[in-house]
Amino acid sequence: MVVGNQGARRFKDIIPVSLSVPIILRQIGISLSIYLFDKPQGKGARRLPFLFRNQERKKTMDEKNKKSDSEQPFHIKYRPKNFDEFLGNEPTIKSLKSLLEKKDRPHTYLFTGPSGNGKTTLARIIAKELGCKALEFYERNAANTRGVDEIRDIIDNVRYMPCGKCKVFLFDEAHGLTSDAQEALLKLAEEPPRYVYLIFCTTNPERLVVTLKNRCQHYSLALLNEDTIKALIDHVLREEEAELTPDIMQMLIKASEGIPRKALMLLEKIIKLDKDEQKRVLLDASLEVTSRDGIKDLCGILVRESSRTDHNNDWEDIQEILKKLNSPAEEIRKVIMEYMAGFLLYATSEAEREKAIRIIDDFKRSRNFDKASLVKICYQATHESEDEGEDCSE
Ligand SMILES: Nc1ncnc2c1ncn2[C@@H]1O[C@H](COP(=O)(O)OP(=O)(O)O)[C@@H](O)[C@H]1O
Ligand SMILES: [Mg+2]
Repeated sequence: MVVGNQGARRFKDIIPVSLSVPIILRQIGISLSIYLFDKPQGKGARRLPFLFRNQERKKTMDEKNKKSDSEQPFHIKYRPKNFDEFLGNEPTIKSLKSLLEKKDRPHTYLFTGPSGNGKTTLARIIAKELGCKALEFYERNAANTRGVDEIRDIIDNVRYMPCGKCKVFLFDEAHGLTSDAQEALLKLAEEPPRYVYLIFCTTNPERLVVTLKNRCQHYSLALLNEDTIKALIDHVLREEEAELTPDIMQMLIKASEGIPRKALMLLEKIIKLDKDEQKRVLLDASLEVTSRDGIKDLCGILVRESSRTDHNNDWEDIQEILKKLNSPAEEIRKVIMEYMAGFLLYATSEAEREKAIRIIDDFKRSRNFDKASLVKICYQATHESEDEGEDCSE
C-alpha cells in the first residue's frame, strides 16, 4: 500500500489515457483540451468555481430533499412548482406563459415587489419551464454574490455550452449587487448567448442600475387580494386536514396583508393552537399591521400637497391617527424616516423634495424622541406649510 502518494499514482495512471484521447480525437478531426485538477485552492480556485460550487449546491439540495415534507415549514412545503399552482397576479402569469412559448423570448427578466410575494418562486418556475436542468440553474443572492469578481466567474462560465437546454442565472435580492457587478452584468444582459437566461429579483428596484433594469422584461408582483389569500389558506388546510373557524380565518386573512409567505407562516403558527391562543397570536399580528399602516397614512398626510384650506383637515386627520398609534415613539420615528427616504427618492418635483427633506430634518434633529416630540413635530409640519402657503400668496 502506498501511503501519502495516492495523488501522484493516480496522476500517473491517468497520463496515458489523457494523452491518447486527444490523439485519437485529433485523428478524427476533433480537438480537445483536457484540464486535470484537484480541489481548487488559492487564486486558481476562482478559475474553476462553478464545477465545485455546483457540487456543493447539489449536496445541499440533496440534503434538503432528505427532509421529509412534514418537517418543512409550510412556506417551503407549499411552494408552487408550476404556473398553475402560482396564485394571483394572473396578468403576469398569462404574459409570462405566452412569452416563454415564443421562439424569440426575452433572455433577461426582472421581478419586483414586496418580500414573500413569490418573486423567487416565479424565477424557479421559469427556469423549469425553460427546461433548465437543476445543475445548470445558478441561484445567487447578495449573501454569496455581490462583487464584480463573482460576476466575472459567471461570465467565464457562460462561455461554455450547457449540457441541457439552457443555463439560467437567478440573481436574488439583486439590489445587493455592487454597481460594478451590475455594470459587468449589463454587457452579458445586452448580448446573452442564446442558451443563457438571466433573472433578477428585488424588493428595491431603485437600487438597480437603470440601464440594466431597462434591459429586462420587468414584472412587478402585486399583493394578493383577500380571496386569493383565502384560497391559499384553504388549500393548505385541506392538505393538512385541519380547519379554522370563519372568524379566525378572517383574522388570518387580514393579518397576512396580501403576502402569501406571511399567510403560510401565520397559519403554521396557529394551526395546532386552541381558538383563544389563535385569536391572541392573530390579534398581535394585526395590531402590528394597523399601527404600521397608521404610520404610513400619517406620512401620506405629512407630504400631501394640500390646498391652504385643507391644513386644519390635515391636522385633524393626523390627530385621529396619533390617538390610535400605540407603538413606541422611537419606532414610529424610524418608520417615518424610512418612508420619507423613499418619498425623496421618487419625488418628481422640487416642492416634493423640499417637503421630504424638511420632514427628515425635523425628525432627525430631535433627541430622546418621545410621544410629545412626535405630536409636536406633526403639528408643526402641518402648520409650517400653512405659513409657506401664505408666503407664496403674497
Ligand atoms: N403566488 C403564490 N401562490 C402561492 N404561494 C405563494 C405565492 N407566492 C409566494 N408563495 C409562498 O410564499 C413563499 C415565499 O415566496 P418567495 O417566492 O420566496 O417570495 P419572495 O422571493 O418574493 O420573497 C413561497 O415559498 C410560497 O410558499
Ligand atoms: Mg426571494
